[in-house]
Amino acid sequence: MDLSTPPPDLYGRPRADTFFRFLTAFGDRYTPALGGPLLRRNPRRPYSRPTQALQLVVTARRQVAADVVELTLADPSGGPLPAWQPGAHLRLTLPSGRERHYSLCGDPADPADPAERSGYRIAVRRLPDGGGGSVEIHDTLHPGTRLAARRPRNGFAFCAEPAVLLLAGGIGITPLLPMVREAMRNGLDWHLVHTGRSADTLPFAAELRALDPARVHLRADDEHGGPPTGAELLAHAPRGAAVYCCGPAPMLTAVQRALDASPAVSLHFERFGAAPVTDGEPFAVRLGADGPELPVPADRSALDVLREARPDLPYSCAQGFCGTCEVRLLAGTPDHRDRRLTPERRAAGALLPCVSRAAAGETLVLDL
Ligand code: FES
Repeated sequence: MDLSTPPPDLYGRPRADTFFRFLTAFGDRYTPALGGPLLRRNPRRPYSRPTQALQLVVTARRQVAADVVELTLADPSGGPLPAWQPGAHLRLTLPSGRERHYSLCGDPADPADPAERSGYRIAVRRLPDGGGGSVEIHDTLHPGTRLAARRPRNGFAFCAEPAVLLLAGGIGITPLLPMVREAMRNGLDWHLVHTGRSADTLPFAAELRALDPARVHLRADDEHGGPPTGAELLAHAPRGAAVYCCGPAPMLTAVQRALDASPAVSLHFERFGAAPVTDGEPFAVRLGADGPELPVPADRSALDVLREARPDLPYSCAQGFCGTCEVRLLAGTPDHRDRRLTPERRAAGALLPCVSRAAAGETLVLDL
C-alpha cells in the first residue's frame, strides 16, 4: 500500500460524525417525550422519536477564519446549560427545520466560566455546495436568533492518555480545541497538527498558536505543494501516543493506513459526512409505486441519488445514526447498513437511505 500518496481532498465535505450512534439511539429512546403530535404531522416521518429540546439564543458571532463563523448559544433567560465534556456535539434545529450536528469548541472547564454553562460555542464553515445548513447559519443566524437543540452528546470522548496527538483537518479542529485545553490542564505530552488549504482557512489559528507554539503545528497545503500524507500527519506523534483525528474521510483513511508504521498506538476519530461506500452493488430506487426509477451506482448512496430528484429530502449525519433521512420502504429487499433502526422498525418498513443499499439488480420502492 502506497502511504506516500496524499488523500485527494481533505476539506470537501460537510460536517458530521462517528461512533456515537449507539449512544444516540439509546438517548433518543429514553429521553422524555416532547413532540408526539408535532412529529405525527409529517406523514413521511412515521417513526420519528420524541426528543428533549433546549431553547437557545445566539448571543455572539465572530469570524474565526475566512469562511468560518463561531457562534455562542445561550439559554434565553441566562440560566445554566447542561454540562458537557471535550468531544461532545450539539444537534441543532435551524429556523428552516434542518437538523445539523456541530461539535462544541469552547472550554467546559474554563475557570472563568465553570463548565462553560453560560454558553455553548460552535464554529461552522460555509459550504455553498453542501446541504444548505452551513449557508443558512452564515446568512441568518445573528445575535438574538433563537433556535432549538438537543442536550450535548459525546461519541468522541477524550480519554486523556499520557501522550496524545490531535489531528485536525480544516473545521475538524472544533472538537479538538477543548481536548487541547484538557491536555494542557492535565500536563499530558500532547501535539496538535491543524491542516487546511491555506493559512487563512485555518480556524482559531492565532488562538492555537498562543497556547503553545512548540506543540501546535499549523500546516497550509498551498505552502507545502498539497495535502499531507498519513505519515506526515503522524510525524509529531509522541511514542505510544493515542491519536484523536477529526476530518474528512480521505484524511482518516490516510491516517489509518499510516498508523502501524508510526510511534502512535491507538486511533480515535470523528468523520465529516459520509464514509466511502464499500462493497456496494448497483441497484435502483423507485419513488412510489408508480414513480420514476432511479439507478444507484455501486459507489454512491441512495440518499445522494434521491436528493438529485428531491433536493428537499432531509438528512443530517449521512452516516446512518441520526435517523433524519428515514423513509418508508414499500417493496424490495434492503441491505440495512445503519446503526440506528431496531429489527422491529426495519420489519415495519423503516429505511435509512444514506447508508442502506440493496443487492445488485434489486429495486427498492420507497414511499416518496
Ligand atoms: S442522514 Fe443520518 S441516518 Fe441518514
